[in-house]
Parts: sequence; structure tokens; C-alpha cells
Amino acid sequence: MSVLPAWFYNEFQQIGVDFEDRLQVEAYDCNQRSSSEQAERKLIEWLGISASHTVIDLGAGTGTFAIQACKAGACVHVVDVSPTMLAYAQKKVGAAKAENIKFHHAGFLTYEHQGNPADFIVTKAAFHHLPDFWKMVGLLRMASMLKVGGILYLRDVVFSFNPSDYYSRIDAWIERVANPAGEGFTVSDFQTHVREEYSTFAWILEGMLTRAGFEIEQADYLTPEYAQYVCRKR
Ligand SMILES: C[S@@+](CC[C@H](N)C(=O)[O-])C[C@H]1O[C@@H](n2cnc3c(N)ncnc32)[C@H](O)[C@@H]1O
Repeated sequence: MSVLPAWFYNEFQQIGVDFEDRLQVEAYDCNQRSSSEQAERKLIEWLGISASHTVIDLGAGTGTFAIQACKAGACVHVVDVSPTMLAYAQKKVGAAKAENIKFHHAGFLTYEHQGNPADFIVTKAAFHHLPDFWKMVGLLRMASMLKVGGILYLRDVVFSFNPSDYYSRIDAWIERVANPAGEGFTVSDFQTHVREEYSTFAWILEGMLTRAGFEIEQADYLTPEYAQYVCRKR
């Protein structure tokens, strides 16, 4: 896909939080507690990622997962649309002396995977940047990058509450999870997420995963607003 048609979605344009802003990137790295080294190691072990595996981290952010996957022996492709994120991740990777990591300035809709088909694709807190039509395109593309039997791990803000309760559910969620300024993600961060980003409903995402050629092996609705999926390419 060298020349994109004029109707193609521009995934390089930032929506919601501006991850091209270095201060936002630093703040994100500091606030992202669920992405601690220990949590990433646990996830890697749980998924069974080890030496000889090729892993693509799509929307990799500041690189914490990639570093730990590399330490587990995997060959990791870090993919992100933000040059600032990539530069930040590259610095962290250098400091961690993690060597088997390749960096790609691309995204769900533009990354062209070369070489061995992937054993795993991991995408955390990133897929909601695409509107639903483009999520479907992204899933079809991810399926094409994976080996048959390969695993897609997707974690994100996904709404599994009854759609007709949206107003009270969103209000209650923000009230429950937001932190005071300077202590993590704030009310304003969550408001921006709902207003400007594209988190969708669980039944929509499940339908898309299945239609893209995945078997959903596990769907965990961690809360009514967060989900993780382990999906196998059929
Ligand atoms: C909230 S951060 C999550 C980072 C990391 N995965 C984590 O778990 O901490 C979202 C990341 O997705 C990236 N992103 C946004 N749109 C994207 C796209 N279309 N393709 C790939 N990455 C994208 C952003 O630049 C940012 O680095």
C-alpha cells in the first residue's frame, strides 16, 4: 500500500491526548501504572511469550512492554504513529540495553510487517484511537501479519455496560477512576477520552474480532469499562 487513496484515514493525526507533545508523553509514562515492568512481565509469562517468538507491539507507547518481551528472548517490533513516543521508547530501550527491538513509525493502518509472520501481536490502550470502521480494517491487517494459530492480545477501554445506561455509567466511571491533579489520570483526561477518542462497545469489538478471522479464546471484562481479549488467528 504505497500510495493511500484520498479517502484513507490519517492515523498520524493525533486525537484526544497529543502524544507528539514530549510533556504529555512523560506524564503518560509516569501515570501508566498498569504498565509497570512487573505487570508486563506477568502478562508476557501469561501469554507464553518467550525466545524464538516474533512479537509486534502496536501503539507501543513508551516501550515498557517491548523491553520486557525482549528480555524474555522475543524479537520485538515496536510500532507507533508518534515520533515523540518512539524517541522516548528508544531512549528507554537503550538504557535497558534491550537489543532485539526494531522501531517503526507506522500504525494499525500503515505498518507493513516484513519477515517472519508474527507469533503475537500485543496492543494495549491504543486501538481506541481508530473509529470503528477503521478498527475493522486494523483487525484485518493484524490478522494478515500473524501466523495461523498466532495470538492477538488486545486490552483497551471497552464498554460492556448496557448502552442505554451510557450517561450514568460514564459519569460513575470517571468519578471512580479519576485522580487529583498530579497524581495520575485526571477527570479531564477521562472526559477527553470519552469525548474525542473512539472507545466502543464490547459487542461491536467481539463481532469485529470474529469477522476478521479470530477465535476469541478469552474475553475478560475487567470492569464495565475495560476489557482484555486473547484471540487466536484461525
Ligand atoms: C495510551 S498510549 C498506550 C501505550 C502503550 N501501549 C501502553 O500500554 O502503555 C497509546 C499509544 O498509541 C499510539 N497510537 C495512536 N494511534 C495509533 C495508531 N493508529 N496506530 C498505532 N499507534 C497509535 C499513540 O501514539 C500512543 O503511543
